[in-house]
This record gives sequence, structure tokens and C-alpha cells, in this order.
Amino acid sequence: MSITDTQNLLARIREAALEAGTIMRSAHQGQNEISPDKIKAGHANFVTIYDKKVQEFLIERLSEILPESHFVGEENGRDVFDDRFQRGYTFVVDPIDGTSNFMNNYGPSVTSIGLFKEGKPFLGVVYNPWQDVMFSAAEGVGAFENGKKIHSSEEPLAMSLVSFGTAPYYPELREQVWKIGGFYLDRCVDLRRSGSAAWDLCMVASGRTGLFVEPLLQLWDFAAGAVILTEAGGRITDLEGKDLDFRGPSSIAAASAGVCREAYLPSGSAE
Ligand code: IPD
Ligand code: CA
Ligand code: CA
Repeated sequence: MSITDTQNLLARIREAALEAGTIMRSAHQGQNEISPDKIKAGHANFVTIYDKKVQEFLIERLSEILPESHFVGEENGRDVFDDRFQRGYTFVVDPIDGTSNFMNNYGPSVTSIGLFKEGKPFLGVVYNPWQDVMFSAAEGVGAFENGKKIHSSEEPLAMSLVSFGTAPYYPELREQVWKIGGFYLDRCVDLRRSGSAAWDLCMVASGRTGLFVEPLLQLWDFAAGAVILTEAGGRITDLEGKDLDFRGPSSIAAASAGVCREAYLPSGSAE
């Protein structure tokens, strides 16, 4: 795909994300709270009718944009390790990332659209309809916030905010969560908890935070944000500092250009 074709594709996917945002905003017209439609496995893991609505819309629209693509979305239960996933193009989508924020009309909830090419992240779009903020990036094209090129921060960890995900659905990780939180609270300006991992990755990409860590995330949580961060000069690994294989769930450490230069991981291993 030429750079121009990639830019055109990115523009069409951004339009789809804008429309997804309109569906999300329609949920809060006249009501402050959205009730869960279903409860998934794990602690307080809710799904609303809007998660499903946005996903159905995206399957339809993204298949029109790239008819030869496959589709992996949080709410359709398809196996991310499917063999087809390693060939051609695959959309990896979280229709609403930050569902608990969305349900309670609190803080960021976003639509996150990643596009993989031969099993590797190629393009990403993250849209926050509440602030009308669109992040997008594609391999070799750069990363953008509302059309303006972005670069991650050059500050060291000690001068940075760190966003910290609590892996809420996995009670077995609680101890690890608090240990990691304590580790960074001693080494950075302060911790932040947004409630949306896709948004957290964009906050590192755009220079607002220096690092984002979470002990366990699913592929659709970080597929789009990984491209946005990497194109913005940051680095995404697991919490041991290993490169991600993008085949399924992983712990995440997403660092800015500045933080990358230090030994920033709890294990001390950052190449
Ligand atoms: C969740 C959010 C949250 C993170 C969880 C994710 P969901 O996604 O990204 O910030 O802490 O680990 O599962 O369920 O709102 O799409
Ligand atoms: Ca998610
Ligand atoms: Ca979700």
C-alpha cells in the first residue's frame, strides 16, 4: 500500500470512528447512567447495548472500507489466535474502551480501531467523542491528534505523570497491581487512573504522561494505541521489557521517548 493509499484509508477509518462516537453520545442524551445488559466473566465486567451497537456498526462500516479484511472485536468472541489473523488485513476493535466510565458518565471512554497487516499492527485510530479528540497513526505516516503531528515526551520518569491500569477484571492480580503502583508512585510525579487503556496509550503518545503500565490487557485494548505510541516515538513492551507478539493478552509498559532512555521497569530490565 502506498503512503497516499494508507493516508486515504486512515481518513476513512477516522470517519467511521466519528460515527461510532455519535452512537456513544446518543446513549447519554437524557440519562446519566447506562445499565449493564450483560455481565462477563471476572470482577464487575459489564457490557451495555451500546458496546454491541457500536461494534455492529463498525463491522459493517469497516468491511465496506476494506472488504478483504478479517475482524476481531471484543464483543463478538472470535478467537484472536485464528490462523487467518496472520494473513492479510485484520481489524482489532474495542467498540467502547472504558465501559465503566461510559456507564457512569465519567471520564474518557473511546472507540479503538487497530488494523493489523500480516499479524502486526499497521494502523490505529482512537476517538474520544466526549472531548472530540481523535488520535490516529499508521506505519511510516506518523501519529496525529486532531490532524496535528504528535511526539511523546522527552522528560525523565521523575518529571512525568504515570498512568496506571488496575486490571479490574482479574482479582488474582490485585497484589501485583498495588506493588506496581507503589513502585511508580515513588519514582514519578504522581499516578493517574483514566479507566481506558486505549486513552492511556494516547496520553503517552501525545506527551501528557511519560509511562502507562497495566498487568494484563487484551489485544483490542492496546492494538490501536500501540501504533499511535510507536509512531509518536515511544516504546511498548510487556512489564518485563519484552517486545509484544500481538497474538493475545499481555501485560503492558508503554513509555515515552524520554522514559525509554532509563531503566523504568520494576524488573529493571529495559534495553
Ligand atoms: C478496560 C479499560 C480499563 C483497563 C481494563 C480494560 P473495557 O477495557 O481499558 O482502563 O483497566 O483492563 O479491560 O472493558 O472498558 O473495554
Ligand atoms: Ca477495553
Ligand atoms: Ca470494551
